[in-house]
Amino acid sequence: MALPPPPAPPPSPAAPPRPLPDLLEEAADAAMAAPSVHNTQPWRIVLHADRLDLRADRTRQLTTVDPGGRELAQSVGAALFNARVALAAGGWAAQVHRLPDPEDPDLLAVVHPVASGPDPALAALAAAVPQRHTDRRRFSGTPVPDDLLRHLTAEAAQEGTELLPVVREEHRRLLARLTRKADHLQNADAAYRAEIRRWTTRRRGAGDGVPASAVPHVDDRQRDDRQRDDRQRDDRQRDDRQRGDLPLRDFDTTGAGALPADHGSGPDQTLVLLASREDDQHACLRAGEALERVLLGLTRLGWAASPVTQAVEVPRTREQLRSALTGGAHPQNVLRIGRAVPGPPTPRRRRDAVVENSTRPPGPPTAPHHAGPTGWPVAGPAAPSGRRPVSDGRGGTTWS
Ligand SMILES: Cc1cc2nc3c(=O)[nH]c(=O)nc-3n(C[C@H](O)[C@H](O)[C@H](O)COP(=O)(O)O)c2cc1C
Repeated sequence: MALPPPPAPPPSPAAPPRPLPDLLEEAADAAMAAPSVHNTQPWRIVLHADRLDLRADRTRQLTTVDPGGRELAQSVGAALFNARVALAAGGWAAQVHRLPDPEDPDLLAVVHPVASGPDPALAALAAAVPQRHTDRRRFSGTPVPDDLLRHLTAEAAQEGTELLPVVREEHRRLLARLTRKADHLQNADAAYRAEIRRWTTRRRGAGDGVPASAVPHVDDRQRDDRQRDDRQRDDRQRDDRQRGDLPLRDFDTTGAGALPADHGSGPDQTLVLLASREDDQHACLRAGEALERVLLGLTRLGWAASPVTQAVEVPRTREQLRSALTGGAHPQNVLRIGRAVPGPPTPRRRRDAVVENSTRPPGPPTAPHHAGPTGWPVAGPAAPSGRRPVSDGRGGTTWS
């Protein structure tokens, strides 16, 4: 397979960089499009004349799944990466100060646009920002080629994070087993189930949470198994075990999940781990930047991906992942990667609830590329049948 084309130059060398106020507003829009755990969007963005601050919004932290704030920091890291991409696409370089003030631990990053050469590799990812969606469908059996995995490993390393493909059969089975174990422990906890319900049954217009349109359907039999009959649930888990399945997180609390029930996440799919040498806020923030860099790179090349992080969230299974699969590095995220119809978009909060000092209208963020008439979120351009998105060599995307 062909590696990604060389980084495209910034939009047009002849065009002057975008004016700073517009650019910072666009960076805020891009940040808001980032993935976040349970679509909590746990960030606040503060615009200043010369910079953008990214703050953690602890009121949106998941207290059961993420008491330490690891996934909150990763989510903000993903938003930070999107802001860096938007600045590069606008013709500016970025100077980033991460956790700049020990007295203000919720200030996770300050981003200063700098009038010098933008990073063309980041600018090339701009078109993928509104196209990237978590995809929980069944992936086709096509494995991710080794040269693309090597490329993704190098991309994550640029963000100070290790990407480790899980290649050996026994390792893939172990990862699936630890994910099943973590998923089982989590679902046995009423507080966990209540938290999932809270983020899957949002009030209309809240602009956050995981909508039924983005999750596989859990049929009545499975629901009954889960809720009422431990013996049937054990049978089902034994079937999963025999097939070596990696359970996707069950977000279908209302039974309205719109994606096919069969997500086919067996051991033949491509799995990668993201891991960090340190285990602090800075490392989690960087892991989020790496996560989004990898996800945008995959989107740009027409690949689908979804995080499956139960085993990272439960301390016991995280430790087992660490000793068996990451060579002592601290596990941050688990990704399944494959080919599938693009995932559906999820909502975003209103700008005025997220962005301070903005001069833009208060509604949903504006999609910078491929925006549909109804505003954010929008799916990427409809795929002409049998074709897939590829780079147009100028930092944009076209269809092969
Ligand atoms: C740190 C982190 C952990 C996540 N863990 C999971 C997971 O375990 N299962 C899952 O289906 N999605 C997971 N997601 C994906 C989010 O649910 C998704 O980003 C969010 O719903 C927004 O949707 P979008 O990615 O399509 O924009 C995770 C995302 C992040 C950033």
